[in-house]
Amino acid sequence: MTNRHQSGLADVIAGETAISTVGKEGKGLTYRGYAIQDLARAGTFEETAFLLLYGKLPNSDELQQYRAKLMGLREMPAGLMHILEQLPASTHPMDVLRTGISALGAFEPEYDGGAAQDIADRLIAVSASMLLYWVHFHGKGVRIETATDSPSIAGHFLALLHGKEASELDQRALDASLILYAEHEFNASTFAARITASTRSDFYAAITTGVAALRGPLHGGANEAAMALIEQFDSADAAEAGIREMLARKELIMGFGHRVYSVSDPRSDIIKAWSRTLSEEAGDIMLYEISERIETVMWNEKRLFPNLDFYSASAYRMMGIPTPLFTPLFVISRISGWSAHIREQREVNRIIRPQADYTGPELTAWVPIHQRT
Ligand code: COA
Repeated sequence: MTNRHQSGLADVIAGETAISTVGKEGKGLTYRGYAIQDLARAGTFEETAFLLLYGKLPNSDELQQYRAKLMGLREMPAGLMHILEQLPASTHPMDVLRTGISALGAFEPEYDGGAAQDIADRLIAVSASMLLYWVHFHGKGVRIETATDSPSIAGHFLALLHGKEASELDQRALDASLILYAEHEFNASTFAARITASTRSDFYAAITTGVAALRGPLHGGANEAAMALIEQFDSADAAEAGIREMLARKELIMGFGHRVYSVSDPRSDIIKAWSRTLSEEAGDIMLYEISERIETVMWNEKRLFPNLDFYSASAYRMMGIPTPLFTPLFVISRISGWSAHIREQREVNRIIRPQADYTGPELTAWVPIHQRT
């Protein structure tokens, strides 16, 4: 039998999108036609989310209203706080978000004809609150107030995490990271969310699917795995020796490689520059230097380049963010991209149901139970 499928759906065009381009010749990475470099340099995460969800960059009145809308959506129903309190302290924060988002769908369900857009905004606004409420309840036994004065999601997240307003630099760096993580075409979690949406399931179900798919270390979980890798080493030389040994054992080096990009990930340069700035500002460039040496070894030995997750690890560490919250930050940002895709899928919907090449036994005669061996 000839197999006709592409392993891992590599190079398969599985649909159309007007939301982003990834690695397309002459375009690179764009969100609704805007280059990622421009968005990350001059834009904010809220402008980016608006662009993805509403199809255009907001003017200043629209941005102000959008920020105010998001700020007004940060608090949770009491029932949801109760559920978060019941989750064990040992839960992975990704499971907290997966459960919290799913549970919110029970408290604030999507009704037929309801505004999906509003659910998207609600989830973008409330996810940091959900996560950090659980973090503080289980870490310090404190029920925190989840409304903050910070107009940005980045500032809100850092203020809730550290219990005080973060530095301007940290807020800008996290904001840039959220822009970089917001959208990436038909990646695994987005495609999974679109599959769920294609069955006409509800908005929360599709987002929950996205969170579940993002959790794995081959996808969003790579930023946490990259941190675990980098932290093993206490010098750049030790990192070089360690990585060479891992390569000799044919181990995967987390935060490197990409299904679509073949020579570099355009987001990596941007987050790398932030990692360097934050490290220099903190007067602690060890993790950055270790990371840079790993990058050099990986390029020289394997022609593999860092993806967004690799330098996100050291950048997040410099902002004082604990490793288990790295992938949840990816969620907080990517909800904007998933939401745009769920809406796009609904507009052109046909259930996503491919076929498989069969590799099992030939048609076999039924065997009565007493004759089976
Ligand atoms: N470390 C070491 N080797 C790697 C590697 C890595 N991070 N990424 C790819 N390779 C090697 C593979 O082992 C394979 O080698 P082979 O041809 O000798 O078998 C070759 O490069 C091609 O990789 P492949 O597994 O076919 O790529 P893929 O498109 O199926 O997978 C990723 C893409 C991203 C899942 C893969 O590069 C990976 O696992 N990276 C680490 C996890 C990560 O950072 N994920 C975040 C992605 S944004």
